[in-house]
This record gives sequence, C-alpha cells and structure tokens, in this order.
Amino acid sequence: MISLIFAIDPHKLLGKGNDLPWYYPEDLQYFKKTTSGKTVLMGLETFQSILSRIGKPLPHRHCVVASLTPFEYEGVEVINDLLSYLKTPRHEEIFVIGGKTIYELSLPYADRLYITHIEKVYDGDVYFTKLDLSPFKIIKETISQGLRFAIYERKS
Ligand SMILES: NC(=O)c1ccc[n+]([C@@H]2O[C@H](COP(=O)([O-])OP(=O)(O)OC[C@H]3O[C@@H](n4cnc5c(N)ncnc54)[C@H](OP(=O)(O)O)[C@@H]3O)[C@@H](O)[C@H]2O)c1
Repeated sequence: MISLIFAIDPHKLLGKGNDLPWYYPEDLQYFKKTTSGKTVLMGLETFQSILSRIGKPLPHRHCVVASLTPFEYEGVEVINDLLSYLKTPRHEEIFVIGGKTIYELSLPYADRLYITHIEKVYDGDVYFTKLDLSPFKIIKETISQGLRFAIYERKS
C-alpha cells in the first residue's frame, strides 16, 4: 500500500530553496507520529534536505531513497527503479515523503494521501502542480490552529 504524506498551502506550494517554506511544530509532530516505525520513500533532494537539517537519516524509520545516480549511505536503501518499487504489491504501508518529483511520480499508485492543508499562503518555488484530489475521498479530518489534517483514500 502506497501513501503520500505532505503539507501544502492553498496554492499547492510544497517547498522553498529545497526546504519547507513554513515551520509548524504540530505538523512535524503529526509527521513523526504517523511515519515512525514505517518505511519512508523519498527522492535524493529531500534526503539531502533532511541530512542538512538533522545531520542523519530520519531515525526510527526504514529510509528508502530514489536516485538515478548510484550512491550509498549507511543504513539507507537506495533504489533506481522507482516505478517497479511503486508497482510491487505490499501489505505494508509505504509512506512517500517527498519531494515534488517523487510525489508526482507516485500519485498514480497512491492508495492514501495524508495532507496537511495550511490555511496561510506562503512564498516558495516548488508546487505540487499535478495534484488532483478528484479520485480520492476524505476519510478523516482534524482542524487545528490554521492547519487541516486530512486523510484521503482512493475511491473504489
Ligand atoms: N511540503 C512538504 O510536505 C514537502 C515534503 C518533502 C519535500 N518537500 C519539498 O520538495 C522539494 C524537493 O522536491 P524535488 O522534486 O526537487 O526533489 P525530490 O523529489 O526530493 O528528489 C528528486 C530526485 O529524485 C530522483 N529521481 C527522480 N526521478 C526518479 C526515478 N524515476 N527513479 C529514481 N529516482 C528518481 C533524482 O535523483 P538523481 O538526481 O540522483 O537521479 C532526483 O534528483 C523541496 O523544496 C522540499 O522542501 C516538501
């Protein structure tokens, strides 16, 4: 099962200068709680952005990094055939954690979306332009201080 987890502003903004345009501790806590103990799949840019922020891969998660350039990093699984990885049926929930390129390639295979909708409009340079929620329905929603935590499931 493939799940995408991301935060966006009302204009589908995702990032700024290879980082998040905002700082919401409540959203970071939600991300941590949702993905802890799980497999997280990310592109090389997002992996590098995590390394520059915390100096190591995300702890307490199995990290899978998609890259077309061969590289190795201790404790991290590197894949170059992203589509085969996404198409492989699994019972386990795999969380796609960014960035734009990997979200857009993964969206057609997504069973679930965990979206933090940010009320405020921000400046940035990376948008989830291909995001289309019409094949999905909301199954859970929580609103808190300018954030709307929504979980969507693909319509059957
Ligand atoms: N708002 C959010 O929730 C959120 C979450 C995460 C990230 N972001 C933001 O997203 C932005 C980064 O997005 P991005 O698109 O630049 O980078 P990205 O998706 O993290 O990584 C792109 C990299 O993935 C690899 N890749 C691309 N296609 C591939 C394929 N078919 N198979 C295997 N690997 C492939 C390439 O690595 P190689 O170049 O090595 O081939 C490419 O450079 C940042 O601004 C970040 O802050 C936002």
